[in-house]
Amino acid sequence: MSIPAIKGMNDILPGEIETWQFLEATARQVFGTYGFAEIRTPAVEKTELFCRSIGETTDIVEKEMYTFDDKSDNSLTLRPEGTAPVMRSFIQNKLYNLDPVSKLYYMGPMFRYERPQKGRYRQFHQIGAEVLGVEDPKIDAQVLAMLHQYFCQIGIEAVSLQVNSLGCPECRPAYRQQLIEYLEQRLDKLCADCQRRYQSNPLRVLDCKAAGCKEATVDAPSMLEHLCGACDEHFNTVKKHLTALAIPFEVNARMVRGLDYYVRTTFEMVTDQLGSQNAVAAGGRYDGLVQSLGGPALPGIGFAIGVERLVLMKGADKIAPTVPQLFIAALGDEAADQAFVLMTKLQRAGIQAEMEYQGKSLKAQMRRANKLKANYTLILGEEELKSGQAQLKNMVDSSQSPVVLDRLAETLMDKFAAEKG
Ligand code: HAM
Repeated sequence: MSIPAIKGMNDILPGEIETWQFLEATARQVFGTYGFAEIRTPAVEKTELFCRSIGETTDIVEKEMYTFDDKSDNSLTLRPEGTAPVMRSFIQNKLYNLDPVSKLYYMGPMFRYERPQKGRYRQFHQIGAEVLGVEDPKIDAQVLAMLHQYFCQIGIEAVSLQVNSLGCPECRPAYRQQLIEYLEQRLDKLCADCQRRYQSNPLRVLDCKAAGCKEATVDAPSMLEHLCGACDEHFNTVKKHLTALAIPFEVNARMVRGLDYYVRTTFEMVTDQLGSQNAVAAGGRYDGLVQSLGGPALPGIGFAIGVERLVLMKGADKIAPTVPQLFIAALGDEAADQAFVLMTKLQRAGIQAEMEYQGKSLKAQMRRANKLKANYTLILGEEELKSGQAQLKNMVDSSQSPVVLDRLAETLMDKFAAEKG
């Protein structure tokens, strides 16, 4: 019996991987322009790292982590997100000693035990970026400018940017208390989950999808009306810079993030093309996080993009896989040996060449060349081996031209260059 993959964890196959490679290469290029360097952290960390950063009462920590004991009884967790591991590495490797500002990006698999559905998986991939060391609202706008440019460059337009401010440890506690009191009056209207968490995580109720919770909180007090002077000014300045950079955004005062480390600016890139999984990217500021994990008191801000969701949005607009530039059809064993040497020489010269290994008829070989969408074919038989010449067939316009086998690589290069114009 064959063994299937784990539910909610997907293979990424040829034909689809080209879109992934395009999305990743564009991220490297765009993020590089903004001065970000790549960081890679392990897929597994100590469980404590996520409990302390994401928050004990969040959905992620309460029910979605892949946590297990290793053979030495250490509690380990497959990373559910990338920010905490990057902070751990930043502190452990004292990256703050290299420069007062650190700009880091990462890409890779994350793991959450969620109910799989379109756009939501148990292994999914994020492309994320984090900036450490800057409190100035310019950096909030800069990070959003980079995210905006990334979406423009990958050709995804059906997204809108929503921003909010979640205040800080100065102003949030009073607001939180007011919200708890508001919710207490309406407990019977809330779903079971929210009745349980309205004290430990009241903001989460604002984000609940249950109809009763939505209705009960339509006129709930808003964080934006309770920001302290410094947070209010910070948020206004972020908006001013976004406007100056011509980045479209809307304020969504009900946006609540599912991770506890956020303060001040939070944001989401949302789309109406993916049903209920509408966030394609999300992030925000986490000024106290580095210090709470044992590092220096440095502010931070970042985001993560859900790559599967981008791939779904690219949909029909897929990146075409590469095709062979030359297919060599060989007739007979000796020609096949020569074709093999010729093909490898071409590959060494950087030309994508292909041949048939099963000694099939010429007709079958040409069928395969067509199926692979090869640009050119070359037929190699006894005659051609003797004369050292063969016919190169252009598969697009069916024209043929003679070619000296010893000069095949150069001839092909000239043709490709001429075609590129
Ligand atoms: P997050 O909102 O939990 O934030 O995830 C960011 C993005 O990852 C989501 O907007 C979504 O596109 C994608 N995503 C999350 N869960 C899944 C899933 N189960 N299946 C498919 N895609 C998913 C964070 O993870 C923060 N670390 C972002 C951040 C970075 N904040 C500051 N810096």
